Amino acid sequence: MIDLDAVFNESYIRVLNDKTSVGNRFFDDFYDRFLASSPLVAEKFKNVDMAAQKTMLKQSLFYLLNLYTMKKIPDHLTEIARQHDPAHADIAPELYNLWLECLIDTVRESDPQFNDDVELAWRMICSQGIAFMVFVYNKNTKTPHG
Ligand code: HEM
Ligand code: HEM
Repeated sequence: MIDLDAVFNESYIRVLNDKTSVGNRFFDDFYDRFLASSPLVAEKFKNVDMAAQKTMLKQSLFYLLNLYTMKKIPDHLTEIARQHDPAHADIAPELYNLWLECLIDTVRESDPQFNDDVELAWRMICSQGIAFMVFVYNKNTKTPHG
């Protein structure tokens, strides 16, 4: 049996405590990778304060686990999804695939105990949050039939 919550939690603690380089590089490494992954991503973050963005992601990752385990959608998550919808930041579904692949690659490099279980845990735990964000995006996309 694989306990995905525990595997994720332990991996997350390891990457947060990663001292293989000076200080903790996890969020810097993730955003370096993500911004370089596509000109569209770089464009989306052109006017964004990246230091604040890194702090935000650090807070959000624990909440992704929270969503995965509790299956409760708080109002502020609806608001976050709305901020990514076509009328606002306009984050199309394929950008979430890129986001996840960049995140997994960063975990692979930062977690000294990275293995298939760790990869699966991160993928499963992020998938619910992504499903929610993409659902709201698609619902808020105008179609010719309204
Ligand atoms: C993808 C999922 C989620 C994201 C990205 C997210 C993001 C955030 C962020 C950025 C904050 C502000 C953190 C801070 O300023 O310290 C926050 C606060 C909070 N979130 Fe979420 N959240 C998510 C899901 C959830 C879920 C599922 C729950 C509970 C069922 C939850 C409960 C809370 C609570 C209790 C707070 C603190 C509110 C407060 O300080 O007044 N979140 N969340
Ligand atoms: C599950 C994946 C994601 C989560 C949980 C997430 C969460 C968040 C949160 C909590 C905020 C801050 C909202 C606020 O309080 O102002 C935010 C802002 C933002 N996110 Fe995401 N995000 C995700 C994926 C993405 C992706 C794939 C992109 C693509 C480039 C993206 C681009 C942005 C941008 C541009 C902002 C606005 C920053 C600003 O104006 O300050 N996000 N995101």
